[in-house]
Parts: sequence; structure tokens; C-alpha cells
Amino acid sequence: MPTRRRFIAQSAAASAALLLAPRTSRAAEARIDIRLDEPIATIAPEIYGHFAEHLGGVVYDGIWVGEGSKIPNVGGIRTALVDHLKRINAPVVRWPGGCFADSYDWRDGIGASASRPRRTNFWLNTKVPPGPQQYDPNAFGTVEFVRFCRLAGAQPYLAANLRSLPPRDFYQWVEFCNSPAGTTTMADQRAAQGEKDPLNVRYWGIGNEPWGCGGDFTPEDYAVEFRRFTSWVPGFDLGLRFIGAGPSGPEFEGTRRFFAKLTEENKGLVRRLWGWSVHHYSTNVSGGRSSDWNASKGPAVGFTREQWFELLKEGDRTDGFIEGHARVLDEFDPQRRVKLAIDEWGSWHKPGSEAVPSHTLGQVSTLRDALLAGLSLDIFHRHADRVGMANIAQLVNCLQALFVAHEDKFVVTPNYHVFDMYKAHMGAESVRTVFSAPSVGYDRNGQPARIWGLNGSASRKDKTVTLTVVNPSPDTPREAEIGVAGARIASCATRTLTASTLDAHNSFAEPNAVPSPPSVNQTVPGGGLVLTFPKASVTAVTLTLA
Ligand code: AHR
Repeated sequence: MPTRRRFIAQSAAASAALLLAPRTSRAAEARIDIRLDEPIATIAPEIYGHFAEHLGGVVYDGIWVGEGSKIPNVGGIRTALVDHLKRINAPVVRWPGGCFADSYDWRDGIGASASRPRRTNFWLNTKVPPGPQQYDPNAFGTVEFVRFCRLAGAQPYLAANLRSLPPRDFYQWVEFCNSPAGTTTMADQRAAQGEKDPLNVRYWGIGNEPWGCGGDFTPEDYAVEFRRFTSWVPGFDLGLRFIGAGPSGPEFEGTRRFFAKLTEENKGLVRRLWGWSVHHYSTNVSGGRSSDWNASKGPAVGFTREQWFELLKEGDRTDGFIEGHARVLDEFDPQRRVKLAIDEWGSWHKPGSEAVPSHTLGQVSTLRDALLAGLSLDIFHRHADRVGMANIAQLVNCLQALFVAHEDKFVVTPNYHVFDMYKAHMGAESVRTVFSAPSVGYDRNGQPARIWGLNGSASRKDKTVTLTVVNPSPDTPREAEIGVAGARIASCATRTLTASTLDAHNSFAEPNAVPSPPSVNQTVPGGGLVLTFPKASVTAVTLTLA
């Protein structure tokens, strides 16, 4: 029996009491088997995408501070945000919505800033608290957005207005973005804004949530509109990637009805789609069992133990949603060319914790949200053969944001640390990984409920294997033996995000309450590797193969 050494996956915040001495006698209570010989698919970097809507403080105050602002900026765009997005290799940003997209006329956001119209924002009349009156100055339009993406190193993904503009406006937006210099009036208008060369926008969403704010369409009606919007759109040799706006969560029948109608006369029309969007927000359903959507969302901070688990379980349901929609896609697209784009996902808590009142749908992100981010990204990796893009909602100042910004203040949330810790997965090959660990029990509204004891994903790039692991137990560290079939581990490093309280979070006053976890290098002897995953933690393990 080879000597077995135990390493602690530990952050600076984790207690020193968690350190274990090397032992050889007792088998670990859990196992993680990384099956390098069972590849799933390459993890699309776009799985680490973002979403920015003209909603509350996302664009104005979050991204756009304005040219001439005292806040450090590049052409009006907040420098700190750009710098942090570069650090996590942000691959793609979806804009301008969300629901806002289906009320937005892209022409309002082009040309000289002073002559752009001011418009009522979509969110003004919604019942979403705190509901400040919002009017859009249109200072941030298509060119500003693409410049923001370019600065961050991300691809732009534009969501077209299907509810309130005709298809002609859509293809003229494509023309504005992509027609070659000097060829069209649209290209000249773009050049007048300093962008002579095409902006090369490939990703185009055709509406948003058409079953709701996107027009109250039936799946059949939306399929007809989708066909019309995507017919003969000028491609300019870019290979446009159209993303159909699909349902939320488990509405598999909506997916089936859309594809049945789309392909009723021509089966080949399925190839119009690069992607099919599915949204899923994790709400804390145990916090209130009312039909009022506000009451069904638990608090962002100060939640109960039950609510801790319930949020994580809600996020975990994404696994089944992906499988369900993928099964339906298989019926129409057996060659599996159409990707799933989970282009809105994240936690949605009860309002009241936003940094400033004007940040509609702003919320504090705690350690609990970080675990949700980790387990969600792991799910996407495990479905790397189908998921081609995912966009956390939203980038800054809204829902499960990676950043909170107000005037000259800027702070990263624990979600940002997870994106940073996980980024080695981007472009790596996802491999099947088997987690065997005792499940964790809790009380759900007086009834026993359970969640898995450990879960995660693994990927390989050359000699590097990245394993990411979530331990959802708020009470119990979990020790697991790590096996990499058919390979020897030469070295190991771990980064673990945890904290002393479950609702620990960063704020302007305490920007490092949940700090970026350091990397702990370990030398691996010639035996099995055992790691201890602290309670309530997300860990990224980097294994270098011999
Ligand atoms: O992200 C907030 C909103 O949630 C989006 O605008 C909409 O698409 C979804 O319902």
C-alpha cells in the first residue's frame, strides 16, 4: 500500500484547525475519480460569459461613468471593470437585455451623444422594487458597448428587439455593425462614430423571453417570427450565430413546440440556430411559499440553514433542465449542432440589500452565491457537449453580480473569485468525473431533504488537470481521495474559497471580507492524493501530470 498524504484544500480564511497530519491507515470517506479516458467535449470559453442589461445600475454607474468623469475610465468606460474582466479572460458579454432588449431601438444609441434621444426605460413600469424612475440617456449605445467588449477582450453578443421592431431594423443593425467600410449608409454612420472597420458582431439573440416580456408569444408564434427575422440576413462572411430565445427552466414542451413549428415544412431550418437559449434563476423558494414572486425569494444575507440548502438545490436543478432540453433538441438535431446557451443564470434574492437604491435588482452576493456559481459552472462543464455559452446575470450591480460599483467605489464579489479560480477550465477538455460522498441532510419545511456531499467537474489541457469541487455542508469538512485513472500526479495546488460565516460578503466598507484565495502548492509523493474540502467551500485543484 503506497503512502497516502493528506492535503488540505484551504484558504487564508479557513481555520488552521482543519490541518491534518499525513496518515496512512484509514480510507477517505469520499472519492473523486477523474476519468481521463472518458472525454466529454471541449469546454467552450463562452460558458464564462456575462450579461449586461440597461437595468438599474448595470450600465450607468456600473460600466459607463462617462467621458470626462473623475472616475478612472477609458472613453467613458470604467477602467477597474475592464481590468478585472481581462484578469478572468471574459469571453463574451450579452447586451442590451433581457427584457430591455425588446423595447430598445438601436438607432437611439448611435451618432453624436448630445443628439441621442432620452427614453423611458423598460423597467420603469415593472413591479420590481425599489423601482426608481428610470430614463435612458442613450449615452451608451452599440459602439460604446463594442468598445467595452474590445477593451475587456470579450466578444459582443447583441440581443435584437423582436417584440417592438420589425425584422428590417434587425438586419440594418447587423448592417450597421458588420457591413464593410464605405459600402453602406450604415457603415458610414458607424465610421462617423470613429469605427471605420466593421465591428464584427457574430452572436445575435433573436428576442428575449418571447413567452413573457418579449411579446407574450406562443412557441409556435415565436417560431414563425424567428424564421422571418433570420431569413436572408446579410452575413458579410462572418458566419452569424443566431440564438433562439427559449424558455425558462423545465419548459421542455416549449422547446419541442418551437422546433416542431420551425421545421414543419423544412427540417433543415434547424440549422438556422447556432444556439437555443434557456434561462434559469435560482430563487430561495423555501423563504416563502407565496405565489407572489417577491415573497418567494429569500434574503440575500441573514438566510436560514434551510435557505442555504434550498438555493443550492435550486441551482443544481439546472443539470436536469439541460438534460431535458438537450433530449428535445436531439429529436430535431440528431447531429447535435445546436448549442444550449444558458444566457441568463444566477441567484435572484429578495430586494433590499442593493448597495444604493438606484441599483434595481441589486443584491449582496455572499459565500452562498459563490457556491452557487461554482456548482453551476461545474454543471455546464459536465454538459460541455451541449452547452456552448452561459451568461451569469448580471455583470455588475444586479442579481448575482461579479462586481458592485457606485461612483468611485468598486468591489469584487465572491462570485468573481470563483470565475477566477475556475478559469483554467476554459478551452480545456471536460472529462467524466465520478464523485462518491455521503449526501447531506437538512430539514425542508419540516420534511427531510438531502443534497449530494461533494460535486464538481474536471478538465484536462495537456498535462494539467483542473478539478473543481463544491462542499455544500455548512457543518462538515469532507475528506476525499482523488484518483486520476491511468496517470501519475506530479504536483498539486489548491485554492479554496470559504469564510467563517455563511453569508460573508464584500462591501465598499469591507472589500476583502471574502478575499481572493491564495494558491497552496503541495508536493505529491508516489501515493494516492487525499484532500480535505472545508465545510461550505468551493475549491479549485490544479494537478500536473507526470
Ligand atoms: O435579468 C433580469 C431579467 O430577468 C431579464 O431582463 C429577463 O430576461 C429575465 O426575466
